[in-house]
Amino acid sequence: MQVFTKIATLQEALRMVSSTDNIGFVPTMGALHAGHLSLVKKAREMTGKVVVSIFVNPTQFDKKEDLEHYPVTIQEDLSKLQNSGCDFVFIPGVDEMYPETLSANHFDFEGLDQVMEGAHRKGHFDGVGTIVKRLFEIVQPQYAFFGEKDFQQLQIIKKMVAQTRLPIQIIGVPIYREADGLAMSSRNTRLSKKHRGAAPFIYKTLVEAKNIFGTKNAEATVAWVTKRFEEHPLLELEYYSISDEKSLLPIAGNQTCKPHKRYRAFVAVYAGNIRLIDNMAMC
Ligand code: PAF
Repeated sequence: MQVFTKIATLQEALRMVSSTDNIGFVPTMGALHAGHLSLVKKAREMTGKVVVSIFVNPTQFDKKEDLEHYPVTIQEDLSKLQNSGCDFVFIPGVDEMYPETLSANHFDFEGLDQVMEGAHRKGHFDGVGTIVKRLFEIVQPQYAFFGEKDFQQLQIIKKMVAQTRLPIQIIGVPIYREADGLAMSSRNTRLSKKHRGAAPFIYKTLVEAKNIFGTKNAEATVAWVTKRFEEHPLLELEYYSISDEKSLLPIAGNQTCKPHKRYRAFVAVYAGNIRLIDNMAMC
């Protein structure tokens, strides 16, 4: 496994890759966990050479505090990657990725960024779009892998690739969960003991809401989830939405599960000052 901090040397190494080897790319912000490693595994299965980037991208954080506390664990990350089938690791500094100004470009994601995470985290998806596009241009992979935990991000990146006609296939990889159901996230390590104990309630609620949605409509299901969180002493619901998987827009309240529809529930919850997100296919 080779580690690079400069674009030029990474690209030099990538030029040596045989033209018969497809390049698989897994962009990350580090603090790697089993969820990230499942992306690397998928990339390993589908492609000949695997590149992982580790870069905590400042322009996608709407809160300075969140950026400052984002966990950085480079040595542990490298040893995890060493054993997971990664060929090249790219760990650029901020100046390498933002040589001129530390600001994001503006994208038109055709409304996909106006709801849920986009509505609650101002500028977040412009920051994500900016860095992912830059990384794609540097690495020029044939395939790139993203976790479905950030399902909205996954749809937005697919949209960006379609809009810019970059020849990259975006592969979504299912959410990787702890044994108690909590979706794996680098932020989980920042939960206090009591909030970590409470957090699996999010997954349990998603599962129960899915059952309810089997018999009741969207409005009743959303009301049930909202009430459940109102009664919880430690978790604060920011949003719960049953949305169309493609448009990401909330479905009408009178809608029910239909076999030919692809509806997904999305949730964001504060556990103390840590914000957690999750989602689940509803039908
Ligand atoms: O999902 C993430 O970790 C980040 O948003 C990404 C895609 C690496 C861009 O910084």
